[in-house]
Amino acid sequence: MADDYLWVEGVPFFNNFNPETLRQLRDEFVIKAEDVVTVTYPKSGTNWLIEILCLIHFKGDPKWIQSVPIWERSPWVESDFGYQLLSEKEGPRLISSHLPIQLFPKSAFSSKAKVIYAIRNPRDVLVSGYFFWSLVTTCKKPKSLEEYFEWFCQGNVVYGSWFDHIHGWMSMKDRENFLILSYEELKKDTSKTVEKICQFLGKTLEPEELKLILKNSSFQAMKENKMSNYSFVDGTFLRNELPLIRKDIPGDWKNHLTVVQAEAFDKLFQKKMADLPRELFPWE
Ligand code: A3P
Repeated sequence: MADDYLWVEGVPFFNNFNPETLRQLRDEFVIKAEDVVTVTYPKSGTNWLIEILCLIHFKGDPKWIQSVPIWERSPWVESDFGYQLLSEKEGPRLISSHLPIQLFPKSAFSSKAKVIYAIRNPRDVLVSGYFFWSLVTTCKKPKSLEEYFEWFCQGNVVYGSWFDHIHGWMSMKDRENFLILSYEELKKDTSKTVEKICQFLGKTLEPEELKLILKNSSFQAMKENKMSNYSFVDGTFLRNELPLIRKDIPGDWKNHLTVVQAEAFDKLFQKKMADLPRELFPWE
């Protein structure tokens, strides 16, 4: 069991998750109009986005991000810990999730809560995931990148198929309370993308505040912030040193996938994503 998944409605999860909690979460958890929800497929730059949202909340002041763990500032709704914390929290909440849309709390779809969905080039998601999941104790551990490549293409990885995740959430794309961002645009012009997020949230920033946000959410700052780099997560989740904040190089997949794998992935991408607008995928 230690090296396997827990399957819920055809989706693989960490094996310490409780299927009943997941079903209860979907049917009973109330997303409120004032909540801000971050949803991503794992390894799409989620923690970076959360850090930015926390900093926007305090106008760039790093006190909160330096004193409270990231998973308490914006709890993972699908974890027992996060579910509990969020259920007890008063007022507007930051909420994080990697859930595919069919397992997300149903209440969200009739709520005005703002949802930000971040997408990243799946080739980089794949490589980042390979290094990350190899260290996680509560899911299947790939023996090699070749093996993980096959799993990823088949959706036999934690939280299921990347292609299905995107398709599911893109059914929300025309809603006013749904913002789609890409890791690539955040990387290319962080300042402009932070302003876009603020506009979506109905917030304004002074130039000095924006500068503070950029400084305090930079790759280096996050790597050094023990409240954000998961360095003190206990060993039951991670086998050893964690590369959560690993390389920060869009296109790093080129250093890892073979030409044959890259070509096979291109074909799969074309086949699976042809029905979605090209603008969603700025790296293509
Ligand atoms: P790499 O493994 O390709 O380096 P998630 O938070 O969804 O798990 O995503 C992790 C990815 O986001 C990792 O990608 C990590 O390095 C990158 N990342 C984390 N913080 C970042 C930051 N401040 N700036 C840029 N990339 C960051």
